[in-house]
Amino acid sequence: MKRRTAVLVSGRGSNMEALIAAARDPGFPAAITLVISNRPQAPGLALAAATGIPALAIDHRPFAGDRSAHEAAIDAALREAGIELVCLAGYMRLLTPFLVGAWQGRMLNIHPSLLPAFPGLDTHARALAAGVKLHGCTVHLVTETMDEGPILVQAAVPVLPDDTEHTLAARVLRQEHRIYPAALATIAAGRPAPAASNDAALANPLPPGIGLP
Ligand code: GRF
Repeated sequence: MKRRTAVLVSGRGSNMEALIAAARDPGFPAAITLVISNRPQAPGLALAAATGIPALAIDHRPFAGDRSAHEAAIDAALREAGIELVCLAGYMRLLTPFLVGAWQGRMLNIHPSLLPAFPGLDTHARALAAGVKLHGCTVHLVTETMDEGPILVQAAVPVLPDDTEHTLAARVLRQEHRIYPAALATIAAGRPAPAASNDAALANPLPPGIGLP
């Protein structure tokens, strides 16, 4: 039986699309059966609806800052749909202990950095400013502290000398679309997380002159 999985989005929804595409494989242990957005206009919501997946807008604005009440509405929708696992995919609301606690161990998030480096926003600009040579993305279980929680899968990419925030973000995003389905499959199947791999970095060899002597 595939695990009934919801994806929460606030924006473009490319990670959601990667999860939907992966879950179409009959052998994939999860099915994406609900998409929820706090932004009715989120492109991700329209994309989900176009694929025939129930897509629900639960706008945070009418709740006028009452985060718990907004989360209670989300929680009710998840339970109503018989959801077992939740994937945050560019969901841009800070969660309260209520929703985190309700889904502890069953809620995943993807973050565009190699956590614990660069939690929070603007990760690619901050990685460039810090001069790191490796950057990447992380899928982790959600706990009460933002961008913390047990790490499930990471992928690294090189930072190239002429990178801009845009080129680096695009390189990382390709890996996000690879590791998020892998992490969801791991949790849905109840398997231990796959061993760390730097395949992604190896697939993008460092430019000449950069590397170990
Ligand atoms: C991704 O970079 C993800 O890591 C971050 O927000 C972005 C969402 O992009 N949490 P998308 O909506 O999945 O295209």
